[in-house]
Amino acid sequence: MTGLAADIDRTTTPVESGVIHPLWVRVSHGISIVAMLVMIGSGWQIYNASPLFSFTFPRGITLGGWLAGALLWHFAAMWLLVVNGLVYILLGVLTGHFGRKLLPIRPRDIVADLGAAVTFRLSHDDRSVYNAVQKLFYVGVILAMVVVVASGLAIWKPVQFRELTLLFGGYDAARYVHFFAMAAIVGFLVVHIVLALIFPKNLRAMITGR
Ligand code: HEM
Ligand code: HEM
Repeated sequence: MTGLAADIDRTTTPVESGVIHPLWVRVSHGISIVAMLVMIGSGWQIYNASPLFSFTFPRGITLGGWLAGALLWHFAAMWLLVVNGLVYILLGVLTGHFGRKLLPIRPRDIVADLGAAVTFRLSHDDRSVYNAVQKLFYVGVILAMVVVVASGLAIWKPVQFRELTLLFGGYDAARYVHFFAMAAIVGFLVVHIVLALIFPKNLRAMITGR
């Protein structure tokens, strides 16, 4: 490892500094919370203008006031989300963070950790190590983010990103993919936030690093 990546790793890896989450992970995680809130709130408002299903989202939990306002929010926070996401993925790969903390995910470990979790025997001793179920969910939500961005680009610029739109099976199918990827992320977030509140020590580590 050379240059910037090595510098970042040297100053922020848990092993050398006693920090549970490196600074760049905490900053990027914080930015993604803001970007996601805006994308989800404005997305729900966009949905309400032309619902795909027989329900709409209550006005109070949407953002933007009306379709055009929501689209402005959606297309503004989109840059924050994408730039932040690219930096996170780049640093995750270059510093070895992904290889160290999120991979590998072995089916046998998932079964074992799931069994330990439901019987309340899961170890929380070393907070810098994720269990297999956490790894699976974190990698899963990162992939769901890739899908929501790709399908978003496909419905934003279906002419310019023609191939991408076709890959999803056309504009209408891409819209459904975009919606279901959002639903998967929201589902993850509900569980993720409940667990963060149940284990406040882990939440503190994601804010202060320790
Ligand atoms: C680069 C990122 C993104 C782009 C370019 C994008 C683009 C778009 C566009 C163009 C629409 C309007 C679709 C239509 O006219 O029917 C839309 C709708 C929507 N977006 Fe996104 N989006 C992005 C990310 C996200 C994210 C991160 C979320 C939430 C997790 C999200 C949630 C929604 C929802 C719920 C809708 C309404 C679904 C519908 O009725 O079609 N989007 N998005
Ligand atoms: C209020 C909202 C949120 C809270 C309170 C929260 C809390 C946390 C906490 C406490 C951890 C560390 C878990 C541990 O040490 O056991 C974590 C990690 C993580 N969270 Fe969140 N989170 C929130 C929103 C989000 C959002 C919006 C996303 C992305 C969609 C996300 C994705 C992740 C990922 C990928 C990790 C693993 C990070 C890594 O080590 O690289 N979280 N979160």
